[in-house]
Amino acid sequence: MAGGVLVSFEGVEGCGKSTQVALLAQELKRRGVEVVTTREPGGTPLGEEIRALLLNPAFAPTPWAELFLLEAARAQLVATLIRPALERGAWVLADRFSDSSLAYQAGGRGLPWRQVQAANRAATGGLVPDRTLVLTLPVSEALARARRRPTTKATNRRFEDETEAFHQRVARAFHRLAAREPQRVQLVDGRGTPSQVHARVLQALAGLLP
Ligand SMILES: Nc1ncnc2c1ncn2[C@@H]1O[C@H](COP(=O)(O)OP(=O)(O)OP(=O)(O)O)[C@@H](O)[C@H]1O
Ligand SMILES: [Mg+2]
Repeated sequence: MAGGVLVSFEGVEGCGKSTQVALLAQELKRRGVEVVTTREPGGTPLGEEIRALLLNPAFAPTPWAELFLLEAARAQLVATLIRPALERGAWVLADRFSDSSLAYQAGGRGLPWRQVQAANRAATGGLVPDRTLVLTLPVSEALARARRRPTTKATNRRFEDETEAFHQRVARAFHRLAAREPQRVQLVDGRGTPSQVHARVLQALAGLLP
């Protein structure tokens, strides 16, 4: 797609995705590149409403309902934000993308992998990131970071309050993705300070960076 680059950041809750998206965006801007950052679920007016629905403990969607809400938000994000940005030649940094559905809805919730893949393809029109960075951190450490984070409120603890076993299944699914698609999906050690992790992120993007 005309010059643009799509990089997604993945990993369990609290592994440092949003922190690293912000650091990379800053670095790319410093290098004179147009950068668009997105988050999932959300990132568009419709997507933010869907995010609120997903986080509202009153609704408790079934795994399939949860998947389709996420895919609806993703379809809107791809069509209205990501594709136009890529067509302009921008870098798009996605804080979670399709691989999160494989990890959470297939790995974590147990929906069939192939059906989640099909839903991802439908929602994205087949758009796949140029590079996907999975930030790895022991689940207990990541959850401890997430729970310390000041923005964690009762309303956005849906996944954070899942069992440790759930998060282990999610983490295993991310490792499985990296093993299946080693060119695209790279594991980045999420331990250490934000700037140490940032240096690893830049390394993992070698060859793509301007
Ligand atoms: N390398 C790091 N070392 C210590 N703390 C960190 C590091 N990176 C991020 N944090 C802190 O850990 C918390 C979680 O980080 P962040 O919000 O970036 O994770 P996330 O992967 O985006 O989480 P979520 O999936 O819940 O959105 C934040 O309070 C953040 O400031
Ligand atoms: Mg985040």
